Amino acid sequence: MTVEHDVKNLDLAPGGRYRIDWAEQEMPVLRAIRDRFEREKPLQGMRVSACLHVTTETANLMHTLQSGGADVVLCASNPLSTQDDVAAALVSHYEIPVYAIKGEDTGTYYDHIKAALDHQPHITMDDGADLVGTIHKSRRELLDDIVGGTEETTTGVIRLRAMAKDGALMFPVIAANDSNTQHLIDNRHGTGQSTIDGIVRATNLLLAGRTIVVAGYGWCGRGIAMRAHGMGANVVVTEIDPLRALEAVMDGYRVMPMEQAAEIGNIFITATGDLNVIDEHHFRSMKHGAVVANSGHFNVEINIPALQRMSVERPRLVRPYVEEFVVEGGKAIYLLGEGRLINLAAAEGHPASVMDMSFANQALAAEYMIRNGDSLDAQVYTIPEDLDKEIARLKLEAMGVRIDNLTDEQEHYLSQWEEGT
Ligand code: ADE
Repeated sequence: MTVEHDVKNLDLAPGGRYRIDWAEQEMPVLRAIRDRFEREKPLQGMRVSACLHVTTETANLMHTLQSGGADVVLCASNPLSTQDDVAAALVSHYEIPVYAIKGEDTGTYYDHIKAALDHQPHITMDDGADLVGTIHKSRRELLDDIVGGTEETTTGVIRLRAMAKDGALMFPVIAANDSNTQHLIDNRHGTGQSTIDGIVRATNLLLAGRTIVVAGYGWCGRGIAMRAHGMGANVVVTEIDPLRALEAVMDGYRVMPMEQAAEIGNIFITATGDLNVIDEHHFRSMKHGAVVANSGHFNVEINIPALQRMSVERPRLVRPYVEEFVVEGGKAIYLLGEGRLINLAAAEGHPASVMDMSFANQALAAEYMIRNGDSLDAQVYTIPEDLDKEIARLKLEAMGVRIDNLTDEQEHYLSQWEEGT
């Protein structure tokens, strides 16, 4: 009997399975955790509701949790990020209930979250805090069973910290995102490559010689700027934080307010986590043919309603994920992927080798939560440093990279304070 699901088409399952296996080859750390989970069953009897981007990499995480004994369900964490073949394969080949369809409307998106919560989780696993948010707003009866949660993304962690600060958070959550092996690699190298990948797949534009404006110089913005520069683009950074702006200047980029950048940019990429970073007055200053894309978690960074209002013609989809808006004076502005995270809307998200570490953090965070949840307060926690380091060690080992060890003499030197000049 097929497990419960709401996916596009189960006939897509065989192709999804091949792609899941392809990703698995690039995920040695997660595989090592899965082998151990298989033997030790640390998640036995635990119900896990996951709200993540439904990708080949997520499928490998779900399989790992299942191997650890968890009873898992999965729903989408964004209406446009689901890979329908993967959703089908998880249902047909792994017997994991999945509720996710690429392009689902907002109503369906929340119906899917509801279905995942009907599973009555002990552990929530979020990418953007939608499960935690929904539980606290409208499903408080679930709180009794919940041991804790884990969170994948910066935006989700910001929301959770705001809840904890207000005393509203009712159970502990581990911010997988805050591990070094996550944000230093996933946010920088993952978002850097996959954002460029999404823009190139959507538009097939040459980046060399173009002016690319990157809004936000956090770990994601740094990665995007670095990769855009590597492709030959002239990179402009916009920031609100003086330290980050200074860092961008020292990294060799031009830094200026968006107002000014709007006049010179060819391609705009938002990665700030904030609202209306590209707003009506910026659209007014843009050049004909400007391309705007978002890489942040929510589709709020580009003021799309303003762009729609400014439009003097009915917007046209000129190629998949490229919508043309013509504003006063006949100027065309191209919005990519409905302003949703372009790396998952038009491409496949971060490569598996990156998600290997992000999802190793998630799997270990779930295990840690089950072991320690009862003794944790309703706060946001970071994974213990030794686990973070162990993930880095395993990844290096899998990559065949060896590093030095401290000698006894060096260890002693670092631990004393008497010796000076
Ligand atoms: N977030 C970014 N890239 C991802 C991927 N490939 N799978 C799941 N979540 C992601």
